[in-house]
Amino acid sequence: MMILGSEVNMVSKNIDIDYITFRNVSKQFNSGNNINQILKSSSLKLNEGSFSVVVGPSGTGKTTLLNMIAGFDKPTSGEILIAGNKIIKPSPKHSVVFQSPTLFPWKTILGNIFCALDHKKLPKKTKLSLCDQILDEVGLSNYKKHYPHELSGGMQQRVGIARALIMLPDILLMDEPFSALDHKTREDMQDLVINIWLKHGLTILFVTHSIEEAVKISTDVLILKNGSVEVIKNNVNHPRAHDDNDLMKLKYDIEFKIKHAD
Ligand SMILES: Nc1ncnc2c1ncn2[C@@H]1O[C@H](COP(=O)(O)OP(=O)(O)OP(=O)(O)O)[C@@H](O)[C@H]1O
Ligand SMILES: [Mg+2]
Repeated sequence: MMILGSEVNMVSKNIDIDYITFRNVSKQFNSGNNINQILKSSSLKLNEGSFSVVVGPSGTGKTTLLNMIAGFDKPTSGEILIAGNKIIKPSPKHSVVFQSPTLFPWKTILGNIFCALDHKKLPKKTKLSLCDQILDEVGLSNYKKHYPHELSGGMQQRVGIARALIMLPDILLMDEPFSALDHKTREDMQDLVINIWLKHGLTILFVTHSIEEAVKISTDVLILKNGSVEVIKNNVNHPRAHDDNDLMKLKYDIEFKIKHAD
């Protein structure tokens, strides 16, 4: 990912390169005599620079899937590879944005983002300049001296996104990041993430319960049901109109598949 200076032009994506690979991945949780099978020998490939949106009924394992890619959890069998390497632990190159941004209430917005760079050996001036660029990108330049409680939910989530971006990640993992926001704010945040994705060539995995949101932002929709994952391509160009025929058809198809999962 590139942030600095003139590099913030649109980055071409290697859209034909397999990047995230699931090879016969099974995942189950055992509690007492009960086995909760989340994935059954699933294989899939996601391209570098893709924007994959994971949908499926509650409890089907969307968060678990993201957690395994983030390195927070492991498959029971099979393997998950990123750029050919097996995931063994969390990496700062794979940033996570949660539903609630969990900011430090005693730190300013700048402080909340700056501290994400604590482990980086960069001059303070460079770190501050990077913070300024990211704050500008998420539309919070005028709020850097504010505290989290002074910001709306949408603005706090912008801080969450800024804190993930400041790590200059290759992969952004987002678990229902906008589900607590009102409709208008949610649409604004979707546009923000689309712009960030178009500009930086990131690979994004995003979980949502909203099929409308999924078809608006995705290049690939991953439908999780009964332990399997089906990947559907979304090739509609941006900007995408709400009433685009192809998007409406895609939305209907996904809703049908989820409803008739057996
Ligand atoms: N660490 C764990 N130990 C045991 N069971 C777990 C664990 N994590 C998740 N589960 C179970 O696995 C199933 C899938 O959970 P997960 O949170 O991945 O679903 P989800 O699709 O994200 O659901 P939601 O849409 O409600 O967020 C659930 O039944 C959950 O209770
Ligand atoms: Mg979840």
